[in-house]
Amino acid sequence: MTLLTHHGDRDVTPGTIDLAVNVRPGTPPEWLRERLASVDVSRYPDTGPATDAVAARHRRRTDEVLVTAGAAEAFTLVARGLAPRRAVVIAPQFTEPERALRAAGHAADVVVLDEPFVLEPRLVPADADLVIVGNPTNPTSVLHPAEAIRALVRPGRVVVVDEAFADCVPGERHSLAGLRDLTGVIVVRSLTKTWGLAGLRVGYALGAPDLIARLAAAQPHWAVSSPAAEACVACCSPQALDEASGWARALSHDRAALAGALSGVPGTTVVPGAAASFVLARVPVVDVWQPLRLRGFAVRRGDTFRGLGRQWIRVAVRSPETSSALARALAESI
Ligand SMILES: Cc1ncc(COP(=O)(O)O)c(C=O)c1O
Repeated sequence: MTLLTHHGDRDVTPGTIDLAVNVRPGTPPEWLRERLASVDVSRYPDTGPATDAVAARHRRRTDEVLVTAGAAEAFTLVARGLAPRRAVVIAPQFTEPERALRAAGHAADVVVLDEPFVLEPRLVPADADLVIVGNPTNPTSVLHPAEAIRALVRPGRVVVVDEAFADCVPGERHSLAGLRDLTGVIVVRSLTKTWGLAGLRVGYALGAPDLIARLAAAQPHWAVSSPAAEACVACCSPQALDEASGWARALSHDRAALAGALSGVPGTTVVPGAAASFVLARVPVVDVWQPLRLRGFAVRRGDTFRGLGRQWIRVAVRSPETSSALARALAESI
């Protein structure tokens, strides 16, 4: 089970520069910390205002929204609330959806995409009644065209799109969050990455009312705490959305610098078209995360993702200076 339970935070050791965890640097912002600190936690939580805020943000109805204890809880609710006969996860992908399916007693078939990891709907077995795909995908950073995801939709099938990194994409291009015509699609979002709220546990699912009702029926009462619900309201405000889209634009510039620096290291290739807050790279040696750690850089090892091996590393986007320093350390490590 190590494969499915390894996460980037385990790759970080004290004193190293953290390029393994993909959270927006400098978060949570002070205004959000203050807002969370002001929440009255003596009362049981009410997710009504959070549901309203998410619905307004994505122009959905409130019965198309379920606020959850992070995207991870949404995957558990999918696994528990739906009864798939044949579930398929598209790999490489974040490992929690598969782990949640297995924990709920479902088998999970894995469809592994070849480099450059672009979604090919024809690879998904026709009888799959649950398909889970990331967009943009962790760890490849590939943004699949909305049309490719739409091509997965068919009667009797639920397609779950993990959009935990969708707000890294300027204008949230190719997001299906606002598309109400797509019955059979559940979009999962997270506040963890953009807002630095990994420990708070807050995210949400969007989908047709019948699907959302099935997930809600599997959710424990009061699963989402009052501060988490408040974060949802706060991060759906126009000011917060402006802040997030400013970050997405700056990220594009810094990501290009990182991809350029890594591509300049002999024998290193970067998966093209990165759209999230990290890039995936293949290097000419195995386990380079170890010598990099000795040189002070923590990167995410790739071999704990299905479909990748020991030559892969995932690197978070930081300042161009940090990216250049990493590239120098990588050149010395291979
Ligand atoms: C692609 C992806 N989806 C979901 C999550 C989990 O998000 P949350 O913290 O909201 O459960 C992560 C966290 O690493 C992730 O990388």
